[in-house]
Amino acid sequence: MYCLIKPTNKSVRRLIGETSGRTVPERTGGEMSVLTLEGVSKHFGAIQALEEVSLTLGAGEVLGVMGDNGAGKSTLVKIIAGNYRPSEGRIFIAGEQKAFHRPIEARQSGIEIVYQDLALCDNLTAATNVFLGRELTRSFGPFRIMDYAAMNAAATKLFRELKSETRPRDLVRDMSGGQRQAVAIARTRLASARIVLMDEPTAAISVRQVAEVLNLIRELKRQQIAVILISHRMPDVFAVADRITVLRRGRKVADKPTSETTPEEITGLITGAIQAA
Ligand SMILES: Nc1ncnc2c1ncn2[C@@H]1O[C@H](COP(=O)(O)OP(=O)(O)OP(=O)(O)O)[C@@H](O)[C@H]1O
Ligand SMILES: [Mg+2]
Repeated sequence: MYCLIKPTNKSVRRLIGETSGRTVPERTGGEMSVLTLEGVSKHFGAIQALEEVSLTLGAGEVLGVMGDNGAGKSTLVKIIAGNYRPSEGRIFIAGEQKAFHRPIEARQSGIEIVYQDLALCDNLTAATNVFLGRELTRSFGPFRIMDYAAMNAAATKLFRELKSETRPRDLVRDMSGGQRQAVAIARTRLASARIVLMDEPTAAISVRQVAEVLNLIRELKRQQIAVILISHRMPDVFAVADRITVLRRGRKVADKPTSETTPEEITGLITGAIQAA
């Protein structure tokens, strides 16, 4: 993807400090869900991508979403992230009904997404991609100009935290899958996210980097951030998910605590060899 950037006047410097010292959202009675979907459906013309999917997600909960190709997983997270409007159904964030028209609105509600295709700007550097839409600026006479030095320094720190060898000044066009992944994840670290949606974050990266991504998910959980992890990789999901939801042809066919299921059962639910209860 090719992108043009322009400086914003917003003060975003405070975002840097928020990567570690964030405030944990309050939980009322410990039971309040950060995200609730009620009967969400989505069709694209004649294709029924999602059919009446309901689910809830608590603060600090990691939900694994599994399903075959075309099961509706990406559609589900794109609806939560404001990329698509649901054809039917309702979405609640911390108990409040929301209808996002654009991704920025979801983001303002604390929802960050790491897309399956990563959706990065190939022509820009790693650091610029990390700060896209919330660029750091500084005064230059009467003007606001981009503060590339500050962005590079902050990005260096984030990549170090992620144990990634990504260099802030490298162009995304020239990066490996794992390095792109680190850029996408570093973006979520900058925001004061309550919910992080990850679409196949470990599909195209090395073994060592998979471990880092899983550690990052655990760290998000520790900070009471809820995570939806879409993955085809059974070991990754079983390593970090508290619960597993299975989608099959757009329908939710199972939603189980990880401790009460097995990879064999989940595989059966994905393929349809095991029928939903
Ligand atoms: N923008 C779109 N326009 C038309 N059809 C779409 C669109 N996005 C998704 N679909 C269709 O909706 C269904 C669900 O797609 P989705 O991308 O959500 O599947 P998925 O579970 O993420 O699959 P994968 O594991 O391959 O990523 C598929 O039949 C797909 O072809
Ligand atoms: Mg997908």
